[in-house]
Amino acid sequence: MIGLGRMARALLLPLIEQGKFLPENIFGVVGQEASVSQSLSRLPKGVKVVSSNQQEALNVWRAPIQLLAVKPQNLDSVALKAAAAKDDFDLETKPLLVSLLAGVTVRQLQLAFPNHLCVRAVVNTPALVKAGLTALSWGEGLTNERRLLVRTLFDPISEVWELSEDRLDAFLALTSSGPAYVALIVEALADGAVASGLTRELSYDLAVKTLSGTSLLLNKQNLHPGELKDMVASPAGTTIAALRHLEKRGLRSALMEAVLIAAERSREMSSRLE
Ligand SMILES: NC(=O)c1ccc[n+]([C@@H]2O[C@H](COP(=O)([O-])OP(=O)(O)OC[C@H]3O[C@@H](n4cnc5c(N)ncnc54)[C@H](OP(=O)(O)O)[C@@H]3O)[C@@H](O)[C@H]2O)c1
Repeated sequence: MIGLGRMARALLLPLIEQGKFLPENIFGVVGQEASVSQSLSRLPKGVKVVSSNQQEALNVWRAPIQLLAVKPQNLDSVALKAAAAKDDFDLETKPLLVSLLAGVTVRQLQLAFPNHLCVRAVVNTPALVKAGLTALSWGEGLTNERRLLVRTLFDPISEVWELSEDRLDAFLALTSSGPAYVALIVEALADGAVASGLTRELSYDLAVKTLSGTSLLLNKQNLHPGELKDMVASPAGTTIAALRHLEKRGLRSALMEAVLIAAERSREMSSRLE
């Protein structure tokens, strides 16, 4: 593990819980000396953690599977360490590097880590509660066996798709940015309920549960969203009056544009790193 923050732990803990890895076989590197004890207190006994400035940290580059979970701005310094470590180890097979870094393409990973087999994983924040969505984009040279292995890393916290790099911008514009759009909608719905007289606490609770219940219904009954909307909107009723207002104010168009803008921004950010 190169980086042991929130996302790395969310991925690692279920894998240890399910017995896919023994804690003794996990070696983690963090940025600051002060984070070592904090990281250890959040992980099962047996996991070893050191800070990146310790000589021992170089051993992480010997591991057959390496999970990169630092912030994107740390990529260059981490890649330099990997390159320096290469001279110390003569590995028969290239290690696997699975990167969680937002906005770093698999091509950029391969340039930064030429001695690795690289995979880019785009995971969304609901993975923190094992309800995530992951897209995997493969670098060159990965056998089917290796691909299967990478999928199993993400299975416990998410549904997994394999997508080519050119589709990842759209994937993350919907799934990675999506939780923020949805949070905004929840907040606005709750504000409406407060304006109509409910307490703040109850309003948030009801807004979240309306959303999760609706998702479940759409999912379990495999309903088209339009079908569900029509089921709820009765003639001359409250829902159709509210929907008419949302259409007038362009809610659908605003959401469509939001996804397009996020995808465009993601493309722009990746090309800046080229
Ligand atoms: N959180 C999410 O929901 C989410 C979702 C999708 C993708 N991601 C991606 O996942 C990555 C990690 O995100 P996060 O939220 O888990 O970040 P985080 O909580 O800030 O964790 C970053 C980790 O990297 C360590 N680190 C910093 N410099 C390092 C170095 N030179 N060598 C080794 N470790 C170093 C940090 O240690 P110190 O604390 O000691 O500096 C910390 O353990 C990011 O690239 C992000 O784009 C996150």
